[in-house]
Amino acid sequence: MQIVKKVSEMQSISDSLRKEGKKISCVPTMGFFHDGHVSLMMKALELGDILVTYLFVNPTQFAPNEDFSKYPRDLKQDTKIAEKAGVHYLFCPDVEDMYPGGFNTSIHLDGITDKFEGKFRPTHYIGVSTVVAKLFNAIKPHVAVFGQKDFQQTLVIKQMAKELLFDIKIFVAPTLREPDGLAMSSRNIYLNPEERKSALILYTALHDATQAIMNGERRRKIINGVMHNTLRKLSSIKIDYASAADSDDLDEPDEFKPGQKVVLLMAVYLGRTRLIDNFLVTIPGK
Ligand code: PAJ
Repeated sequence: MQIVKKVSEMQSISDSLRKEGKKISCVPTMGFFHDGHVSLMMKALELGDILVTYLFVNPTQFAPNEDFSKYPRDLKQDTKIAEKAGVHYLFCPDVEDMYPGGFNTSIHLDGITDKFEGKFRPTHYIGVSTVVAKLFNAIKPHVAVFGQKDFQQTLVIKQMAKELLFDIKIFVAPTLREPDGLAMSSRNIYLNPEERKSALILYTALHDATQAIMNGERRRKIINGVMHNTLRKLSSIKIDYASAADSDDLDEPDEFKPGQKVVLLMAVYLGRTRLIDNFLVTIPGK
C-alpha cells in the first residue's frame, strides 16, 4: 500500500492508472476505521481494479460548536487496517493542501439539505459536498462507495454528482452493526458504558416503527410517533429528529403509498454524543 499525501501526486497517479485502463474505486472517509469502513473497502475492491481510500478529517463539515478538534484520529492503526484490507493507495492530504489560503468555493444543494441533518447542522452538507467534489477531482475514480449509515449524505452526493456531471458511479453499501444492533460509528468511542447500553434504543425504535409499518400503518405522523415513544423511554435522551420520509427525495407525505420506499431516519444525543441511524422499509401491499 502506498501512502499519498499530496493532491498533485494523487492526480498524476490516477492519470497513469487511467491510461493503463485500470478501473479506480474509492472510499471517502474521515478515518478511525471500524469494520463498517472496512466493509466499504471490500465492496470497492470488488467494483474496481485499484482502491484508493481517502482519509481526511474535513474541518469545513463541522460547525464551530462541534467535535472537529476531538474527532478520533489514529493514523498508525488506520494504516494497518487499510493495508490488511487490501487498499492500494491511502490518500491522506493535509488541510493546507485541500484548503490553501484564499480558498473560497463552496457547493450548496437546495432542498435536500434543508431538512433532517441539514436543519440541525446547517453548514454540514456544504462542507461535505465541497470536499467530496474536491476528492473526486483529486482521485478521479470511476466508482465511489458510501455507507447507507449516512443516508441523507448519499442522496446529497448522488444529486451533486449527477447535476455537476461527475462521471462517477455512486454505490451505497449497507450499514454494519455491532452484534446487539448498534450501528458502527467512529463516534461510538465517546459513549461511556452506560450510554453504550442505552444506545441500543435507536435500533429498537427503528424496529418498532418497521413493525408498525408491517402491521399496516402508513400514516407518517403515527410512524414518527412510534419512534419517538420508544426513544422517550430513555428519559435522558435528546431527540433531534426521528422521522419517516420517502427514500428517494425525503418527501414527507401525510400517508405513504403501498410499494413506496421509505427511510426511517433519526439523530439523538446520548449525553454529549450525537448518534444517527436509519432503516429502509417498503410499505407493504403492492
Ligand atoms: P465517515 O464518517 O468517516 O464515514 C465514511 C464512510 O463510511 C461514509 O460513507 C459512511 O456512511 C460509512 N460508514 C460509517 N459507518 C458505517 C457503518 N456502520 N457501516 C457501513 N458504512 C459506514 O462520511 C464521512 O466520513 C464524511 O462525511 C466524508 C464523506 C468522508 C466527507 O468528509
